[in-house]
Amino acid sequence: MSTSTAAACPTGIASIGLHFPPLAMSVADLAPLRGEDPAKYTNGLGCGEMSLCAPGYGVVELAAEAARRAIRRWGGDRERIGLLAVGTETGVDMSRPLSAWVAERLGLAGAVRSYEVKHACYGGTLALRQAAEWRMSGAAQDRAALVVAADVALYEPGDPGEPTQGAGAVAMVVDEPEVAAIDPVSYAWSEPQFDFWRPVGESYPRVDGPLSLDCYRRAAENCFRALVGNGDPEAVLRELAAICFHVPFPKMVKKAVQRVGELFHWEAERIEAFFRDKVDPTMVWNRLCGNAYTASLWISVANALKGLAHGQRLAAFSYGSGFGAELLTLEAGPKAAAGEWAEDVERDVSGRRRLNARRYSLLRDREADKRLSA
Ligand code: HMG
Repeated sequence: MSTSTAAACPTGIASIGLHFPPLAMSVADLAPLRGEDPAKYTNGLGCGEMSLCAPGYGVVELAAEAARRAIRRWGGDRERIGLLAVGTETGVDMSRPLSAWVAERLGLAGAVRSYEVKHACYGGTLALRQAAEWRMSGAAQDRAALVVAADVALYEPGDPGEPTQGAGAVAMVVDEPEVAAIDPVSYAWSEPQFDFWRPVGESYPRVDGPLSLDCYRRAAENCFRALVGNGDPEAVLRELAAICFHVPFPKMVKKAVQRVGELFHWEAERIEAFFRDKVDPTMVWNRLCGNAYTASLWISVANALKGLAHGQRLAAFSYGSGFGAELLTLEAGPKAAAGEWAEDVERDVSGRRRLNARRYSLLRDREADKRLSA
């Protein structure tokens, strides 16, 4: 038996890759199909476009492409990847992990711990935390981890959640903190609830909408209370350049910010300014994508990191139904300013095909046929 010394290594996000699928539709075009006023979806929920997958294109393709992009940008030796963790709730198999499909596409095999993490939209964050803690513990022996958060979020046609749906993937190589260092201390909160769940064998989630809004707000309140501790909320939050949230739909984030502001006894104008300056700008890509479940928070973080100066800090609030939440803090590294991963979003968004209502209905019909014949 060989013995080895485990030494903690500098840890953080070394590179980011994103991928949005090749189809999209504006929520304003969905509204007439569902007999709704478009303003309900755009202003009431704050949504913009929904990313959609063409037949034959799904979570495996999303995850693998984001991972390829992150690895290419990292430029490290692939032999150094010792952990592959994929957070998703778009299960393709009840046993075989999604990481096995990703590993096949990337040609990763050997001394690699490869697994899938499921906890609704929180799964990607858990995968990232585990990878970071693996390196911080010293167990990694300076090997790198590949973390992917990928999902296809589809609601039943006509479900109130339909305008919030989306799809996308974010991959991160966890190694030296070139893009961002991850603070070892984070603030978690969980409660067992049935706010959003998908029973085994069912294609679409079941949702208790009002309860889900309540759970999300309560989770945010508790995590931010823990972050601030006995400090002055103004001072603690002022030093953060951006505050990112899981974005099921942008109005949800605004409601959570409202709750956090009330917790700190802020006036309405203070809450509004906080949302406008620190939170709303982080959701630009989310509005082009819709809710990509596990990827949603990391799409916002990728957007917020781009352009930050080395040393600037941000917070990231992760929420997954069921429910579990965690608030992390990160510090921008030397490669954040260039924000090279923005090119992934620019390329995917400019190259994707936009569906009208008729084509969207056809897409959903085809998908229903596929599910029936499965
Ligand atoms: P709904 O019940 O149809 O919508 O669906 P509503 O009636 O509550 O209206 C929404 C907003 O639009 C309201 O604004 C209306 O006033 C406004 P608010 O009062 O809330 O500020 N409105 C209009 N505005 C302008 N012009 C109009 C108009 N009409 C109405 N004409 C619901 C809303 C959230 C329930 C639905 O979208 C849904 O079920 N979504 C899915 C669940 C969800 O996203 N929950 C969020 C928290 S849970 C979470 O984040 C986890 C998740 O990502 C899954 C995971 O973890 O895996 C979902």
